[in-house]
Amino acid sequence: MSTPLPRRTVLAAACTAGCLTAAGCSSTQPRQDESAPAEITASEVPVGGGIVLADTQLVITQPEAGVFRAFSAVCTHQGCTVSEVTDGFIGCRCHGSRFSIVDGSVIRSPAPEPLPARTVTRTGGVLTVNRSEQITDRDRRVFVRSGE
Ligand code: FES
Repeated sequence: MSTPLPRRTVLAAACTAGCLTAAGCSSTQPRQDESAPAEITASEVPVGGGIVLADTQLVITQPEAGVFRAFSAVCTHQGCTVSEVTDGFIGCRCHGSRFSIVDGSVIRSPAPEPLPARTVTRTGGVLTVNRSEQITDRDRRVFVRSGE
């Protein structure tokens, strides 16, 4: 048998938690550096597919064995995080856009632009993605050619 808490006590506790959260005081952990390189084990990326890393806003693909690509996971339509890599495409469920796993180009609208490409390097079995460096269109062409 438990004694119910007085309504005023419950409201005060809720307000304290909410106020601390709103003021950014509830966490003593440092914020994640959004430009820090991301690392992933290469074997986690399926050949002919890829994976979405929502926490780092990246999509890593492997269009063919040993060839890895990385893109921003932020859809260029309205900013949803792309949701899946299936049937050789990167898909956004918000409005149905699809992107190429090879170069991030738009396969199906409404997305107006390709997914921004990121540099990815492989050291042994580890992939490192530079999240702050965006590959230009000129680099993208070279980037794609070098992997073919
Ligand atoms: S936000 Fe991705 S299709 Fe609209």
